[in-house]
Parts: sequence; C-alpha cells; structure tokens
Amino acid sequence: MSKLWISGGRRLEGEITVQGAKNSVLPLLAASILAGDEVVLENCPDLADVDSAIDILRLLGAEVKRDKDRIHINPCNAAQSEVPPAYMRRMRSSVIFLGAVLARTGSACMSFPGGCELGPRPIDMHLEALRTLGAQIVEEERNVIRCAGQLKGARVRLRFPSVGATENVMLASCTCDGETIIENAAREPEIEDLAGFLNAIGCRVRGAGSPVILIEGVKKTHGARYRVIADRIVAGTYCCAAAATGGMVTLDGVEPSHLAHLTQALEAAGCSIAVDDDRLHLQMKQRLRAVAPVVTAPYPGFATDLQAPLMAAMTVAQGQTRFIETIFENRFQHADGLRAMGADIVTDGRTAWVNGVGTLHGADTTATDLRGGASLVIAALAAHGESSIGALEHLDRGYAHLEQQLRALGAVCERT
Ligand code: EPZ
Repeated sequence: MSKLWISGGRRLEGEITVQGAKNSVLPLLAASILAGDEVVLENCPDLADVDSAIDILRLLGAEVKRDKDRIHINPCNAAQSEVPPAYMRRMRSSVIFLGAVLARTGSACMSFPGGCELGPRPIDMHLEALRTLGAQIVEEERNVIRCAGQLKGARVRLRFPSVGATENVMLASCTCDGETIIENAAREPEIEDLAGFLNAIGCRVRGAGSPVILIEGVKKTHGARYRVIADRIVAGTYCCAAAATGGMVTLDGVEPSHLAHLTQALEAAGCSIAVDDDRLHLQMKQRLRAVAPVVTAPYPGFATDLQAPLMAAMTVAQGQTRFIETIFENRFQHADGLRAMGADIVTDGRTAWVNGVGTLHGADTTATDLRGGASLVIAALAAHGESSIGALEHLDRGYAHLEQQLRALGAVCERT
C-alpha cells in the first residue's frame, strides 16, 4: 500500500486546474447506458472510482474507450443486468447502476455497494423509491438485491434529500412510461449535472437544483458529447490547504458559486478570495482565525465532504471552531491523525471542538477515508517537519494526480 511523504511548513503558491467532479462523472457513466448512441464525456478525472465504473460498464456489455480526459461509451450492446459483489464493493456509486440497469434491461441483480466507512450507509430510500416506480425487489442472502419490473412514472417523496436516491430515481424513470415527480430531491450541483446530461441524450428532466424534479419518460434517446462540471470538493480541499499554509493559489476551471459556504468560512477566517469567471484566487497572509460553528447540511448548506478539510485548516487557527456533522454518523475519524500532528480536538458524537494550536508537527498517519485522508494531507502541508499519510488508496478514489498537483503548488512530497 502506498504512502504520501510530505515535508511540511511551506506556503502553497501557484496555479492549478481543478479536475472534473468525481460525484458527477460516476452517475453520468451509469446514465450513459440509457443513451441511444455513443456518448463522449469530457473533463473526466483520472481516479480509481472512474476505473471501477468503467469496469462495470464493460461487464454490462458497453464498449468503453478512454482518451486522456475523455471517455467514449457505446452502450448499444449493454444488455447484461448482473453486477457481481466484487465490482459493487469497490465504491458506493456502484449503487447508481441499479436504476440505470433496471431502466435499460427491465431487471437488475446487484449486491450492496462499498465506499467510505462513514457510519451506516443504508440504501433503503433507493429501494423504496424504485418500488414506488413499480420495481419488484427481493433482498436475498449475502446482501444481493434482485429487481425486476416494467417501471411506470410515479410521485416519489424522499424522507431525506439523498443524493444517491435522487440519482437512482432520475435514472430509473427517465425512459419509463409516464411522469415522475421527485419531492424533497437532493439539490447538489451533481444532480443538476446529471439532469443536464440526461437532457443532452434526449430525456426530459426539469427542476433539478430545486427540491422538486419532474421527469417525463421518453421512448427514444440518442448519443451526446457532454462536459463534466468541476469538482467543488477538490477545489475546496486545495483552498483549505492554501489557507492552512498561509499560501496564495489560483484554481482554474472551477464554479465558485458551488463553493459559497466554504469560501464564506475562509473569508471569515481571514483569507482574501477573488473570483474571476471560472478562476478563484485565494490568499492568506496572517494566521487563520476560528470561525462560527460549521454545521454540515445538504446542498446548498455546508458540504459534509468539506468538513474534514476545513477542520484541518482550523487546527492552526487562533481560537476554537465547533464542527457539527449532521449527514453521516461517523465522520470525525480523521481527528486521530490530526491529533498525532499536535492538533487539539475533542469529539463527542457528532460534534467536534477544535482549539487552534500555533503549529503542528510532522507525524506518521493513516487515511481512514477519502476526505479524512485529504485533511491529513492539509495538516501535513502546514506542519513543521516530515509526515507520511498511509492508505493512499482512499485518496486515489477522489484526488487525481494528487502529488503532481501539490508539487505544482510548491509542496515537497513524494509517493513511496
Ligand atoms: C453522496 O453520497 C456522495 N457520494 C458523498 O460523497 C457525499 O458525502 C454525500 O452524497 C452527501 O453529500 C457520491 O455522490 C458518490 P446520501 P450518498 O444518500 O449519495 C442516509 C465523497 O467523499 N441514507 O445523500 O451516499 C445516509 O446514510 C463521498 O466524495 C439513508 O439513510 O449520500 C446518510 O446519512 C462520501 N438511506 C445520508 O442519508 C438511503 O437509502 C446522506 O446520504 C440513502 C441515504
């Protein structure tokens, strides 16, 4: 298992282009089997999770070619409906294939998905919503789910605006008979991106980005060329790294409005942020200040995926910052690694109190999940001395060319 070695205590300075969004490209890859002809996705990040989705597409019978940041998918022969557990376990997003495969083939057999261990991650809302659309679902032994049925448009009310459940309903319903209404839908930019792609292949989806999404089932779809949005969580992670190191960075190819809560918090902490179209400049000259309590919430609230990166920055701020995690039950696992570098963090259930310390010191740490791993990288960049972050495979699921990007900003780091 590889490690990232970092010699910290240097300001990050420079300019990088931010990758396409992992949490957009994965549902788009699943959605590509609903296209009537070839699909070309642009701005696809080079990530382990993208490789896993491509493997599933090939298993289903699609032809997939990769050419730099473009992925060409010809779904014409995607007739398989079974995905074995070994493929499903590689990432959480494999569950999105359920709605797409069911819509395309009329049946699907998959097991429960894998992904980051952030506490219980049930898929009951996905299954209940698919049942509302008319799917017969049997949960067999060893977490295998067997679905079948002619789907029909329906009114689906989610008890919580789940990103994955909203995506699964969109995928399952966009080519079925009748109209579907999703109430209390997730409003994340990735949902809007999925709607944009579905409309590009000839589906009729309205209201994405609002709590009510209307989907009119269509009989015929076609191919399309589509560009994936920028990864707001990766952009936010580099912002936190620059803030923690007193740096000055420019991020290219971002959508600043998708990062509003984070940039407001970083401005309150003393950073200067300027936006120029799809470029974001961040400069931090003095020591960071603690900020008002950070409460994670579904979009447009503060993203749970940015809780760990901001916490890393706040470990070196002046004063105390409180973090309240409302989305996942167990999303403070990075606190141990941060403490090993000298951070003062107290956790109790879903609340963490971070008392800023003057400086962090280097330590050997291990990533426990994707964004938690990113927070260790940020702390290691800010810390004096050498650090290592093990279990890099977590980071490779979400951060493309991590060490090259960090080096482009002046960091001294190496994969060992
Ligand atoms: C997506 O996960 C993202 N993953 C996550 O990003 C992100 O943290 C999360 O949304 C919240 O923004 C992808 O898009 C691939 P949810 P998802 O369904 O869809 C509960 C990252 O680091 N729930 O909105 O799995 C669930 O347990 C990852 O990139 C049910 O109870 O999130 C959680 O508490 C990690 N039953 C809450 O809802 C269900 O059927 C939110 O989950 C589904 C979810």
